[in-house]
Amino acid sequence: MYTAWTVKHKPDSTAEIVGNFLSIKALREWLQSWDKGLPKKRAAFLHGPPGVGKTITVEALARELQMELVEKNASDDRTEDAINRFAGLASQYGSLFGGKRIVLLDELDGLTGNADRGGVKAITNIVKTARCPVVLIANSAYDPRFRTLRSYCFLIEFKKPAAGIVLKNLERVSAREGIQPEENVLKFIAQRAEGDVRSAVNDFQALAQGKKQLTYNDVSWLAHRDRQDSIFNVVKLIIYGRTALGAKKAVNMADVDIDMLFEWIYENAPSHLTDPHDLAQAMDALAMADVYRGRIRASQDWSFTRYVIDYMTAGVAMARQNSKTSGWVPFKFPSRIMMLSRSKAQRATRKNIGLKIRRKCHISANRASNEVLPFLRIIFKNNVHMAAGIAKWLDLDSEMVEYIAETKAKAGKINALFS
Ligand SMILES: Nc1ncnc2c1ncn2[C@@H]1O[C@H](COP(=O)(O)OP(=O)(O)OP(=O)(O)O)[C@@H](O)[C@H]1O
Ligand SMILES: [Mg+2]
Repeated sequence: MYTAWTVKHKPDSTAEIVGNFLSIKALREWLQSWDKGLPKKRAAFLHGPPGVGKTITVEALARELQMELVEKNASDDRTEDAINRFAGLASQYGSLFGGKRIVLLDELDGLTGNADRGGVKAITNIVKTARCPVVLIANSAYDPRFRTLRSYCFLIEFKKPAAGIVLKNLERVSAREGIQPEENVLKFIAQRAEGDVRSAVNDFQALAQGKKQLTYNDVSWLAHRDRQDSIFNVVKLIIYGRTALGAKKAVNMADVDIDMLFEWIYENAPSHLTDPHDLAQAMDALAMADVYRGRIRASQDWSFTRYVIDYMTAGVAMARQNSKTSGWVPFKFPSRIMMLSRSKAQRATRKNIGLKIRRKCHISANRASNEVLPFLRIIFKNNVHMAAGIAKWLDLDSEMVEYIAETKAKAGKINALFS
C-alpha cells in the first residue's frame, strides 16, 4: 500500500512549514489575541495559491496553541442550513471540555454559483457573531461573492515561496525517506514546482519512490513534461471514469497532446486496473486507439482522432468492472517518454546526420536517417577507408562519425583517416 508523502511527511509543527513566515506569525498573534477578549475581526481569511501550506498552518497552530480544531470543508456541504448548524459551534468561546476552539471553514472556493449565495451569507453571519476564532481559507479572497464577508475578516495572504524555500522542504522529506539525491536534483524539482510545495513533494515521490539514490539523469527529463497535477487528474478521470462522456470530456482538460495522453494512460492503466479481465479490456481499447493513430499517421486524415479519443478514454473507463480501488496508487510518468528524452541527445545527432545527407542526396532528413543511415552503418563497420571518404563528402563531425560507427575505436580510425 502506498502512502502519499505529502501525508506521511506533513509538517507537525509550524517550525517545519517552509515559507510565508510572516503570514504564519500574523495568524498566531491573532489567535493569541483572543485571550485578551474579542478582537476587532472575528475571522481570519487565509488566501493564496494551492499547495503552499494554508491548511497545515491552521492545523499546526491549533496543536501548538492547544486549541481544538473544528474543521469543515465548505464545499462538502453547500447548503445554508448545513452551515447554520455549524454556526452553533462558533457561538461559544470554549469547547465542551473547557478548552479553546478554532472553527475552520476550508476551501471556500468550492461554494459556487447562485445556489451558494446563501452559503456565503450564512458564513458572514457566523463571522459577525462568532465568539471563538473562525478561520476561512480560499484560493482567492477577491471573488466578488466574498466582498461583504471580506470586510469582516482579517486577511492573511499566503504567497508562493521561492524555489530555494521549496527546496528546504524537499530536503527534509528526502532525509526522512533516507534518500541520497545527487547534487542539484532536489533544486531542479523545486524549481519545476513553481512555488507549489505540495506538487514538489508529489513530483519527488513519483521520481524517487523505492530508490535510495536519485541522479540528475532520473529527473532531467522532467523539463520536457507538463505540470503533473493537471495530467494526473486527467488520467484519474479517465481510468476511474464512471461515464463514457465524463471520461471523454477529461481530454479537454489535458494540456498535453493526444499522443502524450495515450502514453500516460497506457503506462498507468495496469496498476489501477487490478482485475485481469478489466485490464485486458482496457488494453484492447488502447490497442484500437493505437490502430487509429496508425491510420492517422499513414493517411494524415485527422478525422480519425475522434476514434482515438473514444477508445482511449471511454474505452478504458468502461473496462473497469471488477477492479477494486485499494489504497493510494501513485500515477507514473510514462517510461517510454522517459526513455525518449534520455536518448534525446542521440536523436539530435541522428537528425543532424539526416540533415547532412539531405543536403547531398536531396531527400528528406527523415528518409535519410531511416533509409540511408542503415547502409552507412554497414559501410562504417566494414570499410574504414570508404567510411572516411563518405564522412568527408557529407561533412560529418566526429560525434556523428562515432554515432554511425557505433564504437569509439572504429570512429577513431575513421576520423584519423579523413582529417
Ligand atoms: N509550506 C509548506 N511546508 C511544508 N509542507 C508543505 C507546505 N505547503 C504544503 N506542504 C505539503 O503539501 C500538503 C498540502 O498542504 P496544504 O493542504 O496546507 O496546502 P493548501 O495551501 O491548503 O492548498 P489548497 O489551497 O489546495 O488547499 C501538506 O500536507 C504538506 O505535505
Ligand atoms: Mg487547503
